[in-house]
Parts: sequence; C-alpha cells; structure tokens
Amino acid sequence: MKKIYLIIKGSGRKDGYISRICNELQESLKAQNVIVYDTYKENPAPCDGCNYCEIKGECSKRDMDDFYKVFEECDTIIFLSPVYNGSFPSPLKSVLDRFQVYYTSFYKNNKTQPIIKRREAYLITAAGRDGIKATEYMKSQLNCAFTILNVELKGTFLCAHTDTAPDYDGVVNEIKRSLCDD
Ligand SMILES: Cc1cc2nc3c(=O)[nH]c(=O)nc-3n(C[C@H](O)[C@H](O)[C@H](O)COP(=O)(O)O)c2cc1C
Repeated sequence: MKKIYLIIKGSGRKDGYISRICNELQESLKAQNVIVYDTYKENPAPCDGCNYCEIKGECSKRDMDDFYKVFEECDTIIFLSPVYNGSFPSPLKSVLDRFQVYYTSFYKNNKTQPIIKRREAYLITAAGRDGIKATEYMKSQLNCAFTILNVELKGTFLCAHTDTAPDYDGVVNEIKRSLCDD
C-alpha cells in the first residue's frame, strides 16, 4: 500500500539546496503518495493568538484547512528547511505557530491527543555555515510541538556549508537511505 509523505518545504529559492533535495525526494519516492506543501507559495497566515480555537475548537483562518487534513492523515512528515537567522524562515515558522489549534484542543480535552494517527517525522536543514547549533535548536522547536501532535521525530539531516563547500551528495544519499528504502 502506498504511504503518504507530506513534505513541508521552507525555501522559496527555486535552485537552492532545499529545492534540489525536495526534487530528489519526490523522484525517489515516486512510487508513494508525496504531497509538497510549499510554504513560500502557500504563504500561510501567521497565528495572531486570537484565541478563536480555544472557544470554537478550530482555527479562525481557513487557508490551512487542506494542510491540516493531510497533516493528520499522512504517514511521514518531512520538514525541509533552510537555516535563517538560526531558525526556520518565517513562512515555515507560521506553520509551526498554526499548530496552536491542536495545542488548545489537547488541553481543552484533558490532554487527549488531538490527532489519532501516530506519524513519524524527519527534519532536513540546509545552512550556509556549519548549521549545527541552529539545527539542534530547530529540532527542539519541533519536539516541543510534536508532544501534542502525536509525531515522533525519527531523524535529522544537515546539509552544511552551502555558502562554501557542502557535501551535498553525501547528505542526499544518507537521506535517501533512511527515507526511501522501504
Ligand atoms: C535571510 C537569511 C538568513 C540566513 N541565516 C543563516 C544562519 O543563521 N546560519 C547559516 O548557517 N546560514 C544562514 N543563511 C544561509 C542559508 O541557510 C543557506 O544559504 C541555505 O543554503 C539556504 O537554503 P537554500 O539553498 O534552499 O536557499 C541565511 C540565508 C538567508 C537568505
């Protein structure tokens, strides 16, 4: 049976490393069902803390309705992000903040997981410099959200030194070995 992969893409640069990795993943996973949520194209509205979700149990904004559906039903989530100022670029950060709807649901319903299906996730980053601290930080940001999203972060990959001499092929092969060998 085909697995559903959701790639949450955090780079708007068409010929950048993240776009290249995204293309390689789509190619390697073509026997599966791969959905790419391009945060720069979709431009999700930022969470403005309106508290509508606390009262109504759903987000006041409708622009991520389709995203939430796939996010809840998929098998694997791949966060594909450049490092911008030590963290996620703002469109991808908006996605993380928009998980607030699940957070309020978790606490409103006596700490019951708002998403029934257990899913696995991977974080892939690209950094101009060594990117180690930033990737650790981004990982901790995801793990913070994942406790209430029923997601396990299974692996992290870093394509470092993209400004100078990245080991692009080495990283991509490692990613493919871990994610595409089913
Ligand atoms: C706004 C901006 C902020 C950046 N901040 C960092 C940073 O904090 N640390 C770092 O190592 N690289 C930083 N970079 C470099 C990018 O992480 C690097 O170019 C990466 O390859 C971008 O991904 P892409 O190739 O998919 O566009 C920054 C680049 C931009 C445009």
